[in-house]
Amino acid sequence: MQRIKSRFAEKFDDNIRFIKGVISTPKTVGAIMPTSARMANRMASIIDTGSGLPVLELGPGTGVITRAILDKGVKPENVVSVEYSSDFVRHLRGKYPGVNFINGDAFSLAETLENYRGQKFDCVISGIPLLNFPMHQRVKLIEDLLKLVPVGRPVVQFSYGPVSPVVARPDSYTIKHFDFIMRNIPPAQIWHYKKLH
Ligand SMILES: C[S@@+](CC[C@H](N)C(=O)[O-])C[C@H]1O[C@@H](n2cnc3c(N)ncnc32)[C@H](O)[C@@H]1O
Repeated sequence: MQRIKSRFAEKFDDNIRFIKGVISTPKTVGAIMPTSARMANRMASIIDTGSGLPVLELGPGTGVITRAILDKGVKPENVVSVEYSSDFVRHLRGKYPGVNFINGDAFSLAETLENYRGQKFDCVISGIPLLNFPMHQRVKLIEDLLKLVPVGRPVVQFSYGPVSPVVARPDSYTIKHFDFIMRNIPPAQIWHYKKLH
């Protein structure tokens, strides 16, 4: 009972923390509620735990997707997670000891991941609110992220719009609609991007 209570209290605290983030930086947070566990688990379902490679997460916020990545069996030290908000990062470091949280900008990957130069990741799982950024920045981010994963492995992104938040570039990457999650506020789509070669 105590455990259920404390989980409820933790979720309540996270929701409050998230709403504070929305109020102070609405464009950066880009959502009205934290990601649902259902969506987080669907996003993390693609992880190949046998690859031996770490997972790169972008925009963990309150850490719902981080939780799903760890629940999939990835060791905390094999998760690298980039978050722009120092408030979220402070909280995440206490909540998930061992996970490599980087307080940085996903759009400046070379600088943000300078300690991981040359590192390949099994996949990228992103909660960045892409629709709040211009299209050329979205395309560049996806192309830069695809350089960090082996051919055949995805960059996973959720989005609230009906179509892919990144335009097609058939000479560069493929786009696959992976799922539509009703149980999320608001309902959201999950997209997979893979490089061609
Ligand atoms: C839609 S929220 C993610 C919600 C998260 N899944 C949760 O359940 O709390 C987007 C997150 O991306 C972060 N973010 C936005 N722009 C970013 C950037 N350029 N680099 C890194 N993180 C960024 C925001 O601070 C926010 O935590």
